[in-house]
Amino acid sequence: DNPEDLVTRAPIVTIMGHVDHGKTSLLDYIRRAKVTDDEAGGITQHIGAYDVMTNTGEKIAFLDTPGHEAFTAMRARGAKITDVAIIVVAADDDIMPQTKEAINHAQVAGVPMIFAINKIDKPNANPNKIKEQLANMNLLVEEWGGKYQSQDISAKVGTGIEELLEKVLLEAEVLELTANPNKNAVGTVVEASLDKGRGYVTTVMVQAGTLRVGDVMLAGQHYGKVKAMFDHKGKKLKEAAPSTPVQVLGLGGAPQAGDTFKVYDSEREAREIANSREQIQREQSMRTKKHITLDEIGR
Ligand code: GTP
Ligand code: NA
Ligand code: MG
Repeated sequence: DNPEDLVTRAPIVTIMGHVDHGKTSLLDYIRRAKVTDDEAGGITQHIGAYDVMTNTGEKIAFLDTPGHEAFTAMRARGAKITDVAIIVVAADDDIMPQTKEAINHAQVAGVPMIFAINKIDKPNANPNKIKEQLANMNLLVEEWGGKYQSQDISAKVGTGIEELLEKVLLEAEVLELTANPNKNAVGTVVEASLDKGRGYVTTVMVQAGTLRVGDVMLAGQHYGKVKAMFDHKGKKLKEAAPSTPVQVLGLGGAPQAGDTFKVYDSEREAREIANSREQIQREQSMRTKKHITLDEIGR
């Protein structure tokens, strides 16, 4: 990229932490939405992607990751598109195994962390105990003279959330996040599913370039022309700049969360790469198969 093409982009923030410590509630509050109510058993099953405008008119993109252990692999991928990690810890609980895992993911990825110590509205909340537990892990928070930003919050009542967002923007400023919007889009698949009416719906995070309706896109093994794009509220978009999460219609299949995507100048090129990826995967799965049935060898 030419330096003159680089423009400031919004931070991409991943919200991580132990199950039920309040990740989705925090995002719900920030977005003034109510996702937790629609979730099966109150457990996030997938990674949600949203972008919000703060009161000060600055954009922040968010990824909400599931807290359940079964999603460890997805979360590990989630950390790779992240500029800043918010680690949510419930103040009426302790640093839990998945909190440690989230901290570990962020550290391995070299992503700065902000600790959101949640549920301080609860009578049995003890944020100081959490800070002590963090200190015991060599994670001393700023108010205790350390280098880690932390904020006491209540995702239920809204306490401290404005301040938390300010800390995110402060961290982003230090990182000097830029991207070149003047090229074919590249980014990461957040989730994908088959919708009966609309076909394959793929949520992607654009990380560089600009994604436009009509672009030929290849994600994992699947390609297609972008038929339509929507933001997380369902509003139609014609284009998506860096750090924008969008739902894309038009892929020929569902790529996996964590797959990268790229826009190509020709459909032929995208198809050829898709076919060769498919071929490689076929060969790999043949090799790892323990038993080959008669059916599969064509008898
Ligand atoms: P998973 O996606 O399952 O990992 O959970 P999560 O971290 O997204 O937690 P979620 O937002 O689903 O919240 C879990 C429970 O804690 C829900 O019953 C919330 O209403 C409650 N909760 C979240 N934040 C707060 C808070 O600040 N105060 C209180 N009192 N309850 C909260
Ligand atoms: Na939950
Ligand atoms: Mg959740």
